[in-house]
Amino acid sequence: MANKKRIAAVTGAGQGIGRSIAIALANAGMSVAVSDIDESLAGKVADEIIALGGDALPLQLDVTRKVDAQAVVDAIVSRWGRLDIWCNNAGVSSMNRFFDLSEKDWDFNMDINAKGTFLCSQVAAMRMSAQDISPDNTLRGKIINTASMAGKRGNAPFLAHYVASKFAVIGLTQALAGELAERAITVNAVCPGYVNTTMQERELTWEASLRGMESDEVKRLYVDDTPLARLQTPEDVAGAVVFLASPSADFITGEAINVNGGAWMD
Ligand SMILES: NC(=O)c1ccc[n+]([C@@H]2O[C@H](COP(=O)([O-])OP(=O)(O)OC[C@H]3O[C@@H](n4cnc5c(N)ncnc54)[C@H](O)[C@@H]3O)[C@@H](O)[C@H]2O)c1
Repeated sequence: MANKKRIAAVTGAGQGIGRSIAIALANAGMSVAVSDIDESLAGKVADEIIALGGDALPLQLDVTRKVDAQAVVDAIVSRWGRLDIWCNNAGVSSMNRFFDLSEKDWDFNMDINAKGTFLCSQVAAMRMSAQDISPDNTLRGKIINTASMAGKRGNAPFLAHYVASKFAVIGLTQALAGELAERAITVNAVCPGYVNTTMQERELTWEASLRGMESDEVKRLYVDDTPLARLQTPEDVAGAVVFLASPSADFITGEAINVNGGAWMD
């Protein structure tokens, strides 16, 4: 009998938001390919899922390398026979005043956040296009991108390059949603705000130094900017991804859903 579980893949799933997405998709009954540039982190998260009774496969993937993305898709198809959901979550940031931004800062953010989403989406969508409609819905597959509040709100201090990369992710989300609809593939994004992860820990240190403040004071600025008055957890974001991955969201495409406690409502 054909495997009835839906098959999901998450990039940058070794920690933070990606880890929570992978665990939440597994808890929702999916088999999950847990990929990260850091293979040992991916392995630990896959072990967590398996220990919880789920089905997971750890894989190494640098999203800037199309050859890696193809190898991951091949490994998924070889293990489970199809690919239903691809989550482009891997992302990086750095912070600097505009006049101090280097080409290296620009390339680092654009390469991983924007180009990585492009390359992985192309490989994933190619595979989805080649497979039958899913046994439990009307689609061949879904792509779900982790964009950012910074993909909608340009006024984010010290993050011009990151903002540009995340606006690109949302633009790509809409363009691909239009182009891939005829292939029965949906493309959506989630837009987190201030999420408590290692990325945020790094940003708190950089921003504190750039503003001449303490990290805790910067953290207070983040909370004060959030009507629901707390930092987000990775699980807050994962819940929205589980919804987009579920059959309840099969007719939603081209959306970039805010998951930010009200910090930005556009
Ligand atoms: N933390 C936040 O406040 C926040 C807010 C909005 C959006 N986001 C976005 O959420 C996503 C996850 O962020 P996070 O906070 O969990 O970050 P994180 O730094 O805690 O985790 C990111 C993971 O991505 C992996 N990674 C880095 N470069 C990679 C590459 N080239 N290929 C594959 N994997 C790579 C890292 O090894 C790490 O495990 C990112 O796209 C980020 O831009 C985060």
